[in-house]
Amino acid sequence: MMGAAVPTRHIGILGTGLAVPGRVLTNAELETMVDTSDEWIVSRTGIRERRIAEEGESSSQFAHEAALRALTKAKTAAEGIDLIICATVTPDMAFPATACLLQDRLGLSRIPAFDLSAGCSGFGYALTVAESMLRGGPFRKALVVGVDLLSRITDYADRSTCVLFGDGAGAAVLGEVPEGYGILAAELGADGAGGSALQMPAGGSLKPASLATVENREHYIKMQGRDVFKFAVRIMEESARRVTSQAGLTLEDVHWVVPHQANVRIIRAAAERLGIPEERFFVNVDRYGNTSAASIGLALDELARSGELRHGDYLVLVGFGAGLTWSALLVRWWSGEDADG
Ligand code: UT7
Repeated sequence: MMGAAVPTRHIGILGTGLAVPGRVLTNAELETMVDTSDEWIVSRTGIRERRIAEEGESSSQFAHEAALRALTKAKTAAEGIDLIICATVTPDMAFPATACLLQDRLGLSRIPAFDLSAGCSGFGYALTVAESMLRGGPFRKALVVGVDLLSRITDYADRSTCVLFGDGAGAAVLGEVPEGYGILAAELGADGAGGSALQMPAGGSLKPASLATVENREHYIKMQGRDVFKFAVRIMEESARRVTSQAGLTLEDVHWVVPHQANVRIIRAAAERLGIPEERFFVNVDRYGNTSAASIGLALDELARSGELRHGDYLVLVGFGAGLTWSALLVRWWSGEDADG
């Protein structure tokens, strides 16, 4: 039986915003905390400093700040939002969802608000889920936020991880754009068999918090860095190629790649494999480190504000992370009323 035709809207990013803590943690400071050096950190990761939340600050607070900026940029009042998705692995608390806390901070009620856990791929996952809910459903505008305060689950006695991570939030308002613009293709994926390469072992139903889990430092990120590195380079190349061809484009058409900001060596390796010049990869990992679910939103907002992103540009947003998961989107940038073409 034929159903009624579902209206299909074209969904794009109407505005972005970011928020980061004021406190800067430099490589020089890390040198006083663990056996590391600025030289090692810069040459192996490209990171020079990262932002770290103060005691009492929370994910929902930075999500709120980033959301307000994205709403302003999108010329949308908070009341114009009818869906909130928050990607995070460091929610304010296990429940309620940080998206619900954010909804309350925004003074909104009734609209659906939920969290999504896909590690550093979270922002791409949340954009894709929101897009699918807006495309044919009753929702018109969505607020998507990637936020993580990884400093809260980072072991500052473990030099192999503590130099990498930082805190922050990146937000985007999604809504209808003209045909040919916005999200043209998306790919989400997961490889759960690789999950142990990047995890926080305790604090969940398997190993609830106890004196022993705290003493064993099991409430911190545990990572097999080299395994994640190899997965990252391979999946960034493959998924970026697939979304580009899914959109009927070639890699030469891509003006900007906004990759998950984990390590500049991963970004360079992906650029080389894709044959896309490094200058077309937006990089800010040097100033923020790896901010997990915030990273792509944070980078996209800086790129948008740099003046270098033009109306009609094709972008690939590509990420990888805990799960192991990945996400890739091909977006044609819509500048809204600011568009000159
Ligand atoms: O968002 C997803 C999350 N994770 C990632 O994206 C991380 C992906 N992985 C990476 O970025 C890299 O694997 C790391 C940056 C984590 C590590 O770089 P690497 O080139 O793979 O180094 P490695 O783990 O092979 O370690 C090389 C050496 C080791 O010493 P030995 O065994 O060769 O003597 C480490 O103990 O470097 C040592 N090392 C350090 N030395 C100084 C590890 N961390 C440090 C450090 N300072 N901070």
